[in-house]
Amino acid sequence: MVAKTRDLRALVGRATSLQGWLVSKQDRGKIAFLVLRDGEGTAQLVCERDKIGGEAYDALCALPIESPMIATGMVAQPEGRVNPELSLSFFEAGSSEPNYPIGRKEHGPEFLMDERHLWLRSPKEAACLRIRSSLEYACTEFLHREGFHRFDAPLITPTACEGTTQLFELDYFGKSAYLSQSGQLYSEAGIAALEKVYSFGPCFRAEKSITRRHLTEFWGVEPEMAYIGAEENIAFQERFIRAILQKIADERAEDLAFIGRDPETMIFGPESFPVLLYDEALKELAALGTEVPWGADLSVEDEEKLALRYETPFFVYKYPVQCRAFYIEPDPANPALALSSDCLMHGGFGEIITGGQRASDFNFLKSRIIEHGLSLEAFEWYLDLRRYGSVKHSGFGMGIERMLRWICGLHHIRETIPFARTPLRCSP
Ligand code: 4AD
Ligand code: MG
Repeated sequence: MVAKTRDLRALVGRATSLQGWLVSKQDRGKIAFLVLRDGEGTAQLVCERDKIGGEAYDALCALPIESPMIATGMVAQPEGRVNPELSLSFFEAGSSEPNYPIGRKEHGPEFLMDERHLWLRSPKEAACLRIRSSLEYACTEFLHREGFHRFDAPLITPTACEGTTQLFELDYFGKSAYLSQSGQLYSEAGIAALEKVYSFGPCFRAEKSITRRHLTEFWGVEPEMAYIGAEENIAFQERFIRAILQKIADERAEDLAFIGRDPETMIFGPESFPVLLYDEALKELAALGTEVPWGADLSVEDEEKLALRYETPFFVYKYPVQCRAFYIEPDPANPALALSSDCLMHGGFGEIITGGQRASDFNFLKSRIIEHGLSLEAFEWYLDLRRYGSVKHSGFGMGIERMLRWICGLHHIRETIPFARTPLRCSP
């Protein structure tokens, strides 16, 4: 029987085999300690020279790191140790070249990113990528359970969604087309057919932001709901965040512990997440010594400063219209404000979600398209959504990598995706 490293605890006292790759080895002469990695984690193998014989022992200790192997033995739980180990009685190994580029010494991030195709195998990287997979599943599972239909938006698009300065342009059979910045506008078409939809796919941003939170290609999950206003949208985002974090805390507890995140810190008490008006956020920032002129968007530093004051995720709501996208609905009580919110993760982290109520009136939306210098012709189809059966509707977008960076406590967003794309990197 071949078991998974994850299941060893249930197999203490029994014989089993593990199948994976050699991560490290330490030869102490009569006894060797090895670490084997499989798709679910790592396990320690203990090999005694007397038990497996000198020839086999020497062959094992000569194996290069990353050799594929099948190891068979008894599962034991050594006293005082958290994890069980395999006491080796037999192994079979495949080959691997001895000069594996990633060693035990510290490597710089650029070197590791150049070797990303191999670095992925490191136990911490693999743990983060398993958590990513669970996060993506948690999002789709929750939305499916809530009655949403997945509605895949195109990635090749004729127009901008989030500002014209961040577009990757393509030559589309002699015409210009762009890589999609967000599935939102298409999801808005989806709601009149399916009411509650979400797009889930790559989003592209050509901004030259060399930061720890920006990628040029990231994955967005973007729910959109008919007959829902901005405040119900905020309440729904809170349920969404609670549900996905709960699921990951349950499903990936071991990986979380391995990377040093206590799953308990992803579960919040019953009080609602705070909703701060933009004006209140400016006052809080002023009290912290940062003056943000009214009308300006919050900078990364402002968000981080504000987010240090909170112990749960929280929202900033009713931003001035000038710092929001063209499609947003103004506040009927004060048209200078947008019915638009950001969700910020606490502990100094900052934005993970932007959402809001969409302009539903034809004439208003048309005037906004003109004001923003966008092509009316290209947005005719989007205006049709306001011509025919337009209703109040809202939605939001969460970047998978932003959320994963928070969950895993990663310094840099580049480790949240198998192959990061940034202004400075498009390989391997
Ligand atoms: O805030 P953004 O630009 O909002 C939109 O695109 C809306 N159309 C969303 C919607 O209402 N459907 O992007 C949404 C989220 C951000 O909050 C952030 O988590 C992530 O996408 N994001 C990025 N993640 C990594 N790198 C970037 N360059 C990102 N830009 C946005
Ligand atoms: Mg945003």
